[in-house]
Amino acid sequence: MKIIMLGAPGAGKGTQAKQIADKYSIPHISTGDIFRANIKNGTALGEKAKQYMDQGLLVPDELTCDLVMDRIQQDDCKNGFVLDGFPRTIPQAQALDAALEKIGQSLDYEIDVDVPDENIVNRMSGRRACLSCGATYHVVSIPTKVEGICDRCGSEVVLRDDDKPETVQKRLTVYHEQTQPLIDYYKKQNILKSVDGTQPMEAVFEAITQILGA
Ligand code: AP5
Repeated sequence: MKIIMLGAPGAGKGTQAKQIADKYSIPHISTGDIFRANIKNGTALGEKAKQYMDQGLLVPDELTCDLVMDRIQQDDCKNGFVLDGFPRTIPQAQALDAALEKIGQSLDYEIDVDVPDENIVNRMSGRRACLSCGATYHVVSIPTKVEGICDRCGSEVVLRDDDKPETVQKRLTVYHEQTQPLIDYYKKQNILKSVDGTQPMEAVFEAITQILGA
C-alpha cells in the first residue's frame, strides 16, 4: 500500500502516519524527520536544510527529491510506505509519479488531513517533539509521563524551532501557496481522500482505516 499524507503544518499527518505504519506494517517516511536527524547529526544536508526550515520555507526540491527517491527504493518499501511531508510541491509530486512509473507502480491513496488555519497555531505551540526518535506529544492532549522527557527513548522533548507562532504563520502561507495545489493534482488522479482532522485523534484514525480498509 503506497500512501501519501497531505495537510497543513500541524494538521496531524505525523500522528496518523505513525499509526498507519504500525497497523499496515509499512515504513513511515517523514522528510521533516529526515531533515531534523541530519541537523542533529551536523551533516552538510542538515546545515543547508536548517537555513530554510528555520524561516518556515520549503527546502529546495533538488535537496529533497533524490533523498526520497532513494528511500522508497529500499527493501523495506517493497510492500509500500506512508510518506509524511512529501510531496509538498507539484515538481516533487511529478518526480514521485515518474519514479514509481519507472518500476510499474503508482500511488494508492493520498490522504488529506483537513484542519483550518485557526486551529493550527494553538496545536503547534503545545507540541513537544523528541529530536532523537521523532515521537511527538502535546502539553495538554498527549503529555509525556515525566515532564520534558520522551516516553519512548528518554531524551529531552522540545518546542521545535519552527513551531514558534511567527514561523508557523509563514509555514501556513507557504502551505497554501505551494502545497495546497496538490489537492487538485491528486483529485485528477482519483486517489484523493479527505478526512476531518479537527476530530479527536482516534476518530481521525478510524476515518482513515475506513478508507484504507481493515
Ligand atoms: P515537517 O516536519 O513535515 O512539518 P509539517 O508538515 O509542517 O508538519 P508537522 O510535523 O509540523 O505537523 P504534522 O501535520 O505532522 O502534525 P503532528 O502529527 O505533529 O516539515 C518541517 C519542515 O521541513 C518544513 O517546514 C520544510 O522546511 C521542511 N520540509 C519537510 N518536507 C519537505 C519537503 N517535502 N519539501 C521541502 N521542504 C520540506 O501534530 C501536531 C500537534 O497536534 C501534535 O502536538 C499532536 O499531538 C497534535 N494533534 C495531532 N492530531 C490531533 C488531533 N486530531 N486533535 C488534537 N491535537 C492533535
